[in-house]
Amino acid sequence: MLMDQDEQKRAVARAAVDHVARNLPEGEILGVGSGSTVNFFIDALSPLRARLGGAVASSEATRRRIEAIGVPVVDLNTTDRLAIYVDGADEIDPRLRMIKGGGGALTQEKIVAAASEVFVCIADPSKQVKSLGRFPLPIEVIPMATRQIARQLVALGGEPRLRKGFVTDNGNVILDVHRLAIPDPVALETALNQIPGVVTCGLFALRPADRLIQG
Ligand code: A5P
Repeated sequence: MLMDQDEQKRAVARAAVDHVARNLPEGEILGVGSGSTVNFFIDALSPLRARLGGAVASSEATRRRIEAIGVPVVDLNTTDRLAIYVDGADEIDPRLRMIKGGGGALTQEKIVAAASEVFVCIADPSKQVKSLGRFPLPIEVIPMATRQIARQLVALGGEPRLRKGFVTDNGNVILDVHRLAIPDPVALETALNQIPGVVTCGLFALRPADRLIQG
């Protein structure tokens, strides 16, 4: 029987909860990403509530949802390394490099991912691509640098568009870059990280996922 995309996301989320139940030592803190697939994951996480030491959230929306199921949300600054981070992706390639940030939470997602030993990506089959680049690349920028950064993105061959009416949890704005060729995700992430005013680019190639759960 064919599953619709929400059913696929639910199946992926349930498989991720099983993974956490088997691999996260009792009392440890879990890193939790953002987005609709992660929301299904949080909803399915309740049975593990008692054995989690808490969770680090990668966005305000995730924080509220985790608190709603009764799991304490912990400040990243009060923990050392997290054993497992679970998050979704907008695109993921066969080497588990990703485009993220469709929901705008890319900066905190990248921070929590960097603090985690194992990044478990939960992505239904529609997110899996041979090479990254069809999904417009989100870039979080400091507002005063938007125009200057947009010029540089055009010089790189992209078509940056300001995400209208959207302010990130960090008080910044997002440029969604269309039609950007990404032959080498690591090189492009490195180059974008050098542009003054770029807070975070949505390429997760320098620190890809370690594991993909696809349902
Ligand atoms: C949030 O900023 C994103 O990085 C999400 O992880 C990504 O957009 C996947 O979201 P969905 O699960 O809603 O597709």
